[in-house]
Amino acid sequence: MGLNSARIWALVPAAGVGRRMAADRPKQYLKLGERTVLEHTLDRLLGSRIYSGIVVAVSEDDGYWDSLSLSRSHSVSRVTGGSERADSVLAGLNFIASIAAEDEWVMVHDAARPCLTANDIRRLRDSVANDKVGGILALPVHDTLKSTAAGRIEYTVDRTRIWRALTPQMFRLGLLRDALIAVAQAGRLVTDEAGAVELQGLKPLIVEGRPDNIKITRPEDLPLAAYYLERQRCE
Ligand code: C5P
Repeated sequence: MGLNSARIWALVPAAGVGRRMAADRPKQYLKLGERTVLEHTLDRLLGSRIYSGIVVAVSEDDGYWDSLSLSRSHSVSRVTGGSERADSVLAGLNFIASIAAEDEWVMVHDAARPCLTANDIRRLRDSVANDKVGGILALPVHDTLKSTAAGRIEYTVDRTRIWRALTPQMFRLGLLRDALIAVAQAGRLVTDEAGAVELQGLKPLIVEGRPDNIKITRPEDLPLAAYYLERQRCE
């Protein structure tokens, strides 16, 4: 099935606590200018106009979601996430499975990546649309990489083959759901969707993304994201 015949859903895991930010609230609810990080992220997804719906996974005791005006948008649905990112994604996929067919596409995108551009969304969609496995946005690594043990370098990693995984990550609903269920049943931990698909013996496609699609992780990432958003406004 090709691009024109399959719907695409966006799924935003937003149930993390963001401990490395050391803030008074989860990082997706910190302010970036006038709005929260999560509102910026959802605006970027909504603005691309390619999704049939957006599903956001928030934690069970989330006290912030209902205060966002987007929580009342008809295009956005809320589900309850889990204790690991993969659990939150699986909760979202289970919801989408109740309204969509197995061969429809899902793009999973971190709530904490508010600088995603519409061009990157479209490039991922167009690159993956006819792929059997699916694919992810990623960045080549330019630094020299060292593998270490006990604070000492063991060897230098061949960086020509190394990419940093970003989001969105785009897979068929049924394939990704099966992969995450298998991971959960095996008691394994994956930190992204591609990781689950790889454990099924499949090889997701790598699509080069923009370096400004950063994940807000530490306090200094917030002003950096504000700078990137401002710069993108001038493009
Ligand atoms: O903590 P990290 O930056 O890796 O989280 C990536 C994304 O996964 C964030 O948007 C976070 O809210 C989400 N997440 C989640 N459920 C968890 C843990 C993280 O939805 N249990």
